[in-house]
Amino acid sequence: MLSRIKNASSVAARALPRPSSATARMMSSSPSSQLVEPREPHVATSEIPGPASAAALKRLAAIQDTRAASFVADYAKSVGNYIVDADGNALLDLYCQIASIPVGYNNPALLAAARSDQMATALVNRPALGVFPSADWADLLTESFLRVKPKGLDMVLTSAHGSDANEIAYKAAFMHYARTRRGAKSFSAAELDSVMDNKPPGAPEVAIMSFSSGFHGRTFGALSTTRSKALHKMDIPAFPWPRAPFPQLRYPLEKHAEANAQEERRCLEEVERILRTNPVPVAAIIVEPVQSEGGDRHASPEFFQGLRAVTRELGVLMIVDEVQTGCAATGSFWAHEQWGLDSPPDMVTFSKKMQAAGFYHTAELVPDQPYRNFNTWMGDPPRTLLTRAIVEEVLANDLPAHVRDTGAYLLSHLQPMSVRYHRVVANVRGSGTFIAFDCPSAEMRAELLHLMRLEGVNMGGSGETSVRFRPMLTLTKTHVNVFLTRFESVLNKLYRKHWPQ
Ligand SMILES: Cc1ncc(COP(=O)(O)O)c(C=O)c1O
Repeated sequence: MLSRIKNASSVAARALPRPSSATARMMSSSPSSQLVEPREPHVATSEIPGPASAAALKRLAAIQDTRAASFVADYAKSVGNYIVDADGNALLDLYCQIASIPVGYNNPALLAAARSDQMATALVNRPALGVFPSADWADLLTESFLRVKPKGLDMVLTSAHGSDANEIAYKAAFMHYARTRRGAKSFSAAELDSVMDNKPPGAPEVAIMSFSSGFHGRTFGALSTTRSKALHKMDIPAFPWPRAPFPQLRYPLEKHAEANAQEERRCLEEVERILRTNPVPVAAIIVEPVQSEGGDRHASPEFFQGLRAVTRELGVLMIVDEVQTGCAATGSFWAHEQWGLDSPPDMVTFSKKMQAAGFYHTAELVPDQPYRNFNTWMGDPPRTLLTRAIVEEVLANDLPAHVRDTGAYLLSHLQPMSVRYHRVVANVRGSGTFIAFDCPSAEMRAELLHLMRLEGVNMGGSGETSVRFRPMLTLTKTHVNVFLTRFESVLNKLYRKHWPQ
């Protein structure tokens, strides 16, 4: 452990991960490899979006809904931890495409992978992976996803995106549930007939249980388990699946240890009650290690150990949704590694920073027949080539240790600020650089995020009133200092405006 942490401090000294010498040779003729990260943000317009961004958004609005768009980016000029917009503003990016950029914009190792012959072949010859996998697919899976497989889960099924990863994990859970009951028998005539009418017994009444404030995506099955915002679900038909309470912890954790432990016990009891008494049997539960879209809600390792114990006891599968927490953001490659489970989860889903999606599972969860958890592409070799380069960057530079170090530094400065500026910053929490705090209202948060952007720092919210940090894994203490200076200046502005002396 110590040697890993020692490695991290050398990583911290560099703004960008160092490409291997082979990578550097391949990159020498690349214009993008010449990009250098700015030393600090640069904002030249009085508003963001500035005039060029606003004009581009106006043009786009005639074709697509742009109401959620913050500004238009220039990705060819963005570098490392900095995103450059169409007006030439360079912002320190602590939001990173909704938590999905792992090792920096135009990372040299990723550019080298992008420019390889293997990538060109993969890009122009997209395979239907289930029927005509490429000769290098097994190697590619081994060198990417399996290199960082969660303990106990030796297989991976790839998919399109995070919602889809959950969707196919649910299908695996339902097929497994039916098979354990059906045994070696084949499908009955009644099943074969009723399933075409979407009716039981072929289309059975079986459920996935999720948690209040959880977010698992927006496709139909996934959306039925999403419980973060009503707007996400409104008007869409949904499965009548149960929802369990997720602990609502109080901060600082040390101060409220007893009340929090009691709250977690209450939630675990409710989980057990639902699993035992739900009118429809529950095949699996799905849970995020940190509820992310729902407002950065944490629970203790003991809570997750309790979930594992009750699911095992009742024969319910446990799916851990690491779409947002995975790929080292919390300081371990997978956040659930920090729980100390004595038996692994049954499935772990991923996407975002892995830049490719899917779920890990055991051989037991492979359906009994081919073509059941299936679609045309079933994943994407070009994205997997990028995942391979990302995994190499993360492991070669020991980025989990680096993230722990940077995150501890950020937390150690945010905590005293939440005392000094308690009217705006509350409940500082997190692990690794997966950190958040709460604002007193949604309006205050919007004002804060707007002012931060004008100071050159791009940040995002989560839940109703939280601000979340979702930086690159390559964020250094130098970047944190850049953030802290600007954050303090914005907090002073907010204080002067809302609480003039
Ligand atoms: C925990 C979690 N699960 C699933 C998803 C859905 O992923 P996607 O938006 O790629 O479909 C998200 C997206 O934010 C997420 O945070």
